Amino acid sequence: MSENQEHPVDTSGSTRREFMRHAVLAGSVATVAAAGPWVRAEAASPNETIRVGQIGCGGRSGAHMSSYKWLAEDQKMNVKITAVCDTYKPRAERAAKKYGAEKVYMDHKELLADPNVDVVSIATPDHHHGYQALDAILAGKDVYCEKPLTHWRQYELTRELCRTAMASNQVMQVGCQAMSDSAYHQMAKMVRDGMVGQPIHGETGYFRVGDWGEVGMPIDDPKAQPGADLNWEGFLGDAPRRPFDASRMFRWRMYEDYSGGPVTDLFPHPLTPLMYILNLGMPSKAVALGGKYRYNEREVPDTFNLLLEFPEKVCIAVLGTQGNNDQGVQGRGAGGRVPIVRGWEGSLTIVGEEIVFKPAEGNTRKEKDEQRFKIEQPEDTRLFFKNFIDCCIKRDKNTLSGPELALKVQTALHMAAYSQREEKTVRYDAVMEKIIV
Ligand SMILES: NC(=O)c1ccc[n+]([C@@H]2O[C@H](COP(=O)([O-])OP(=O)(O)OC[C@H]3O[C@@H](n4cnc5c(N)ncnc54)[C@H](O)[C@@H]3O)[C@@H](O)[C@H]2O)c1
Repeated sequence: MSENQEHPVDTSGSTRREFMRHAVLAGSVATVAAAGPWVRAEAASPNETIRVGQIGCGGRSGAHMSSYKWLAEDQKMNVKITAVCDTYKPRAERAAKKYGAEKVYMDHKELLADPNVDVVSIATPDHHHGYQALDAILAGKDVYCEKPLTHWRQYELTRELCRTAMASNQVMQVGCQAMSDSAYHQMAKMVRDGMVGQPIHGETGYFRVGDWGEVGMPIDDPKAQPGADLNWEGFLGDAPRRPFDASRMFRWRMYEDYSGGPVTDLFPHPLTPLMYILNLGMPSKAVALGGKYRYNEREVPDTFNLLLEFPEKVCIAVLGTQGNNDQGVQGRGAGGRVPIVRGWEGSLTIVGEEIVFKPAEGNTRKEKDEQRFKIEQPEDTRLFFKNFIDCCIKRDKNTLSGPELALKVQTALHMAAYSQREEKTVRYDAVMEKIIV
């Protein structure tokens, strides 16, 4: 392909073929979506137990399952983990024992066929999220799905999943727990009410030190081999076929077949609230720079810096490195740099437990002074899960972090990943609904 040749991604390569194969296996997305087999549409009675199936029982699943346990035991909600699934059986069995699940599966489709599962909670490696969430929605289950919504090379799947979720009666929450922080909802209202005037700029990021999320992931058993307790094909999913490798399976974040590095692993956290505050649509352009600046053992970058431009004439910068954890301004949440929103009339940011408004030079507003507003409810992961289960009970699709917002955020992240890899400005064609590299 020549330097200047533009090509929409993901429509003809193996990813597309793999996606279509999967869609056919799932019963054909288009056909099933048109028929609308949404099984659990009616509001559950408050006394009816919400039965959760956990898919993926590694590190992050602990936050999922302990939150459901807290909802049941502390909040007296009718929630119960009835089934667990992992392609590595010892982890699934450990989780079943700890959280009292009756059924252990090694294939998510078997869990989805279990009539004692109403809701699935997905905490598998990135390249499985989209397929498993889509299968779950088509099976009539509500879905909590970890970020990133999909792997960096699965743009078409992102679109299909979000469109299907939006058209369905199923409830979906994407695992950006920062959206439980009232600061972002307060700031979004302030922007909507015109406090900063015409928005023009947003800034956020994610900084930390260490390879602990990649090279440091635990290898439970260095001698593990595929067999009855380890489904290597199940782990690979749509990723390229490779011989079994314990490092790839247990430390999958190091490898670009299964992970994208900071752009998809970390940036959903700061970018989701910032795009929400600014009420933005799809980005029009993305430019990203980065690479392996400090840690060489991994394939994915450790440093990533991204600029996004939106048709609303707003630019966003998302900055980050894993080589230094200085946030520049006071951090908020794990590694998160606080967002700054700039408009023609002033800026909004967060200092400590307060939202701070600063008027811009020459602003035309009556309030010329800095103003501070108390944050009503800081981020709380358990309340984020409560929001999801509440929505499942009420059949309310407006979760704090739903598929509509996730589609916009994940599209921006796909564009960024392609930009950094291809060293190009990447565009989004809103008419064709395609990413142009
Ligand atoms: N929201 C957050 O703050 C947050 C924090 C950490 C991780 N995460 C996300 O959670 C996801 C899981 O991360 P982790 O650190 O728990 O990884 P992990 O490797 O510890 O856990 C993933 C588990 O999924 C299993 N698995 C792999 N393929 C599977 C399949 N096809 N079906 C069922 N199980 C399968 C693995 O055997 C493993 O036990 C990642 O996508 C990550 O981005 C989110």
